[in-house]
Amino acid sequence: MKVALLGFGVVGSGVAKIVDGAENDEMGDISIKKILVHTPAKMRQDPRCVVDINEILDDPEIDVVCECIGGLEPAHTYVKEALERGKSCITSNKKMIASFASELFPLAQEKGVALAYESSVGGGIPWIANIERIRRLEEVKSFRGIFNGTTNYILSAMDQEGSDFAECLQKAQELGYAEADPSDDIDGFDVRYKVALSCLAAFRRYVKPEDIITWGVRRISKQDFIWAKDHKLSIKLVGQARENKGGLSAYVLPLMFRNDHLLSNVSANFNALELDSANLGTAAFVGQGAGSLPTAHALVQDILDVNEGRRLDMSQAKPAELKDPEAASYYLR
Ligand code: HSE
Repeated sequence: MKVALLGFGVVGSGVAKIVDGAENDEMGDISIKKILVHTPAKMRQDPRCVVDINEILDDPEIDVVCECIGGLEPAHTYVKEALERGKSCITSNKKMIASFASELFPLAQEKGVALAYESSVGGGIPWIANIERIRRLEEVKSFRGIFNGTTNYILSAMDQEGSDFAECLQKAQELGYAEADPSDDIDGFDVRYKVALSCLAAFRRYVKPEDIITWGVRRISKQDFIWAKDHKLSIKLVGQARENKGGLSAYVLPLMFRNDHLLSNVSANFNALELDSANLGTAAFVGQGAGSLPTAHALVQDILDVNEGRRLDMSQAKPAELKDPEAASYYLR
């Protein structure tokens, strides 16, 4: 199976490192044939680099396209075109896939190819794969979690070191956790995309990211942490959703948790994602929510799934209307 990478940044280079460096037989005859880069100067990085997308789209040998460019365009157009031409697509781009899921999944289905997005939510944590596995047996009723490593790093540092917001944001950026535009992290938009994608996996609902009530962490101050500490609480940015007979509700909110709660004790750039279903009860998944190799690991798992013929079945997915925002109070605890 021949793979093309679109983008050779943090995630793309991690994917190349894992696929090229695989020492066991796990990758079988899977190899990376071409890598799309932005500028001719970048072509010197690897002999497989190309700057023209058509060299990939027109190549009949390429079966799978992995999009790690980020942003809406041209990522969306490239993925759509690749699907049109019968190539399976894998993306780590939560903004693009959350925004165009209701267009791209039916297209993938029509063309009989795979479209996969594990690496776009929860970094290296096998979150989408576990939701799919649980759904074989029973419905997922709700999920909640820490979906953003940057804000978790910032809030943990504010809590533990008493540092102020701006200083912690700068450190998170230096460590490479933050998005290119830090507003996506600190204003909750990154979590909003991930919640929309988790709703697709858990409830087979296409949720428009902009419909999700979203509060970020920009206004959380040192004084908030002093108050929370006095009350044995910690502050976390949480994404959550629940489906019941009344409909689907989904939110991104900073919440306070008692210090003995699992989510309280997740620090640094870690993500912690919980879900509830009838027989399983509550299950939690914790791991690195960002970073080159953890995210690339999730993407390579998608490559292996596609190679084994696995397809996400989105034929039952329907558009969702979210419930009255006042229902947010339902979650506060
Ligand atoms: N900026 C994101 C985060 C990267 O901090 O979690 C992973 O999606």
